[in-house]
Amino acid sequence: MHRTEDAMIVLEGVGKRYEDGSVAVRDLSLSVPRGSLVALVGPSGCGKSTTLKMVNRLIEPTSGRILLDGQDILKADPVSLRRGIGYVIQQVGLFPHQSVRENVATVPTLLHWERKKARARADELLDLVGLDPASYADRYPHQLSGGQRQRVGVARALAADPPVLLMDEPFGAVDPIVRGRLQDEFLRLQQELGKTVLLVTHDIDEAVRLGDRVAVLANGGDLRQYDSPAAVLGAPADDFVAEFVGADRGLRRLAVTPIDVDELETAPVVREDTPLDEVRRRAAASDVPWAIVVDASDRLVGWIGAEHLASADTLRARPMEATLHRTATLKDAWSVMLRYDAGWVAVLDDDRRFLGVLTPESLHAALRRSVRTTEPSSIG
Ligand SMILES: Nc1ncnc2c1ncn2[C@@H]1O[C@H](COP(=O)(O)OP(=O)(O)OP(=O)(O)O)[C@@H](O)[C@H]1O
Ligand SMILES: [Mg+2]
Repeated sequence: MHRTEDAMIVLEGVGKRYEDGSVAVRDLSLSVPRGSLVALVGPSGCGKSTTLKMVNRLIEPTSGRILLDGQDILKADPVSLRRGIGYVIQQVGLFPHQSVRENVATVPTLLHWERKKARARADELLDLVGLDPASYADRYPHQLSGGQRQRVGVARALAADPPVLLMDEPFGAVDPIVRGRLQDEFLRLQQELGKTVLLVTHDIDEAVRLGDRVAVLANGGDLRQYDSPAAVLGAPADDFVAEFVGADRGLRRLAVTPIDVDELETAPVVREDTPLDEVRRRAAASDVPWAIVVDASDRLVGWIGAEHLASADTLRARPMEATLHRTATLKDAWSVMLRYDAGWVAVLDDDRRFLGVLTPESLHAALRRSVRTTEPSSIG
């Protein structure tokens, strides 16, 4: 196990043997880079929660060493250690007799913040996780939906602005649609906050969606692969990982592979103020019966087809809905193609400037490229 300069959490040969002799984690080494989100994934009982709880010393390791920002956690005072680490527990665990605001202000209160400051911080965080404090701060947990409770759990973990966040199945207790929305919200939040996050899930889709890196564990905290999501899906290290990520891992890979803007196909493009005669001349010379129409700043206006050109007296572009932002994934691209029954999709930048088109052929090529560039790397 090498320790890199910017590792925030380092596990070195960590083990947990319970008094009854059962071994939850045998010998786990793992390093979480500062500012990144690492997803620990594996079957039920493989030692994920145990691993997480050893980092904030809710469970004491029986062997090995854990470093937090370079400091051995066993030498730190457990109470102050925990206050510097946000923790979202499995099943949310809000205090039922405290209001939402009091729940969120738990750690600031423990830290003896001034009451007004703690309240203001709680309201700020509720806002951040999408709950209007005016409507929600004074409610009690039982007056919230499952998704809202999970948002409160995330807000509570962020309250004292800890650099490190441990999350145990943070979006586990809600239906798949709410979960997807919470995951999106959390990704946006994390982009802003840049915390170091160790997140536990048994859901491979959640792991590859949220994780910068994914650690796949087998029973006893046995680390089988530690890699980018695309590599775990595209090049599983062994049969266990392959089985765990599932036979439809190819489909899953679509969701974690971005489109490659440098590999887009070109398309005939005309400016909306181009004289019609000129457009017709170019259309006759083109080998596709359509063209993209852009304005003077290259922003997409729409498209025109050859049949329209034949009879038109002005260049009137048809609106085009089959578009994608440059940061979209291959899955987004397929989904747009299917939704609009489109043979090609226009890719746009932040200002809706036209960058090129994607076709089913180019998508297939992109998927093949992504396998070639994701050979499994060594563990650790
Ligand atoms: N107090 C304990 N005494 C003995 N064994 C324990 C104790 N707590 C947990 N274990 C065992 O340690 C193993 C790992 O448990 P852990 O909670 O870490 O699993 P997990 O990967 O989080 O599972 P899940 O996905 O179901 O939450 C399990 O086999 C569990 O039965
Ligand atoms: Mg668990």
